[in-house]
Amino acid sequence: MTTGADAMSSLEQARDSIARAHSVAVLTGAGVSAESGIPTFRGAGGLWKTFRAEDLATPEAFARDPRLVWEWYDWRRGIIAKAAPNPAHHALVQLEKTKREFTLVTQNVDGLHDLAGSGRMLKLHGDIWRMRCTECGANWPDRRTPLPKLPPHCGCGGMARPGVVWFGEPLPEGMMQEAEHAVSSAQVFLVVGTSAVVYPAAGLVPYAKRNGVTVVEINLEVTPFSEMVDFAFSAPAGELLPQLV
Ligand code: APR
Repeated sequence: MTTGADAMSSLEQARDSIARAHSVAVLTGAGVSAESGIPTFRGAGGLWKTFRAEDLATPEAFARDPRLVWEWYDWRRGIIAKAAPNPAHHALVQLEKTKREFTLVTQNVDGLHDLAGSGRMLKLHGDIWRMRCTECGANWPDRRTPLPKLPPHCGCGGMARPGVVWFGEPLPEGMMQEAEHAVSSAQVFLVVGTSAVVYPAAGLVPYAKRNGVTVVEINLEVTPFSEMVDFAFSAPAGELLPQLV
């Protein structure tokens, strides 16, 4: 961990590693959007403190009560629709511009990285602004909030589901392999605002270390990987990221 007197020198070192790298990968989590006013899942004020993931973010919950699940997603869509990208999102866009190779791997479904202007992105957990038909598999964008009718339906008559990945579901095909490739070929891997407890995404951190990649973590709290990474900064992403890149 980096604290007190060390902070300046570690910041300089991490900044130098990032500046010298021509290939950078980034993993973001809900903490990156916290300063935009979007609640995180864990940590202080996290959604999973009030709601049970088993009731709202699993295929079983949706099969049991699609309307309840959709009400929760409709509520979250309403919060996200009012949010704007913060300096952390913007700093990642700037970083991407300066690197020959850059991949942003995100667990966030809120679309704020898109709004900020990030380009090469792997959305491991999908996108809350997309819908998928449970019958015909059609997949389409829908930014209406609130939705006029819950649950929404597809043109084919089938029920739509949120275009996100729920607990117990596989990630979009091939995406994790692409993320691993991006991480292992990077010189620096930034891990920002994720509690790093949800797999397979969290596995990218030890994977980076095994591949000799310099890992820089930014989080308000200690995570399971804070001890293992090269630099662990305890700071708000919206303040620290612009200083680092
Ligand atoms: N700056 C940096 N870190 C922050 C900030 C901030 N301003 N605010 C909160 N954090 C940190 C918290 O300390 C916490 O460790 O961000 C982390 C957010 O963790 P989670 O809420 O667990 O979010 P995430 O890691 O993205 O969750 C993974 O879990 O429920 C699922 O599908 C959901 O994609 C999500 C997955």
